[in-house]
Amino acid sequence: MENFHRREFIKMSAWSFAGLVTADLDQLIRFGQKANATNGFFRENEPMNWDAFLTEMQRICARHQVGRHSKRHVRRIADLLRKLDLKAPAIQAGFDGYQNDRPDWFEHDLLHTEVNFQVSLLQFEKGEYIPHHDHPAMCGVVFPVNGELEVKNYDLLPSDFPVEIEVAPDGISYQKNTALLRLGQSELLRKGDVGTLTEEAGNIHSVMPTQFSQVLDIFTPAYNEVNEAAARWYQVDETAFYEGKKDVYRAEWYKNA
Ligand SMILES: [Fe+2]
Repeated sequence: MENFHRREFIKMSAWSFAGLVTADLDQLIRFGQKANATNGFFRENEPMNWDAFLTEMQRICARHQVGRHSKRHVRRIADLLRKLDLKAPAIQAGFDGYQNDRPDWFEHDLLHTEVNFQVSLLQFEKGEYIPHHDHPAMCGVVFPVNGELEVKNYDLLPSDFPVEIEVAPDGISYQKNTALLRLGQSELLRKGDVGTLTEEAGNIHSVMPTQFSQVLDIFTPAYNEVNEAAARWYQVDETAFYEGKKDVYRAEWYKNA
């Protein structure tokens, strides 16, 4: 940070410095850290403020191409998250405003969004399970701030089950699709851990909070009409492996016929 401060303070005239001492020091530090991050002067052991974090995210995500070097891409984001100052007002406001408004479902605060990425705060009561679903053409990084979550990641296997048409009691017809999923990873994530998924690895997942949990959740790119419409929810039979094949499960997903 000194690099930025020294340069800027030398430029200051006496009257501007006098005005500065009454200015919002926190805002000034944020500005300085953001500029330093942009110029590559960020200190490794210094908690990264929110503005600097977003600036780095913009830089990282702008150069990411869907499906290319995505493991490296999510690793970079994970490294950045570990540096983030979790006392940032944007995050703290989400903590402070928490109310369990939706029984049996997590609460979601969208902290920041732009085309190339979005950052959310998710807050779960124990047992507010998110069943199996995917995020097509997106990478995701989940970073628990408090609590503990069991996250399972799956990959879609090639299969050729026939498509069936089912009619619900309300008369609406659905196309029932059958798929095979392979469990790639099952892990308990706690404070400081990072879970990742890419377009091609572990994109299908489920989340079970084993206690009250708060997590930062990042997607790159952000949700848009195309990737949102392509997302699926799976019903997975986890009671047994499909035809005895280790970690392979039969799953079904529906769409309007
Ligand atoms: Fe998800």
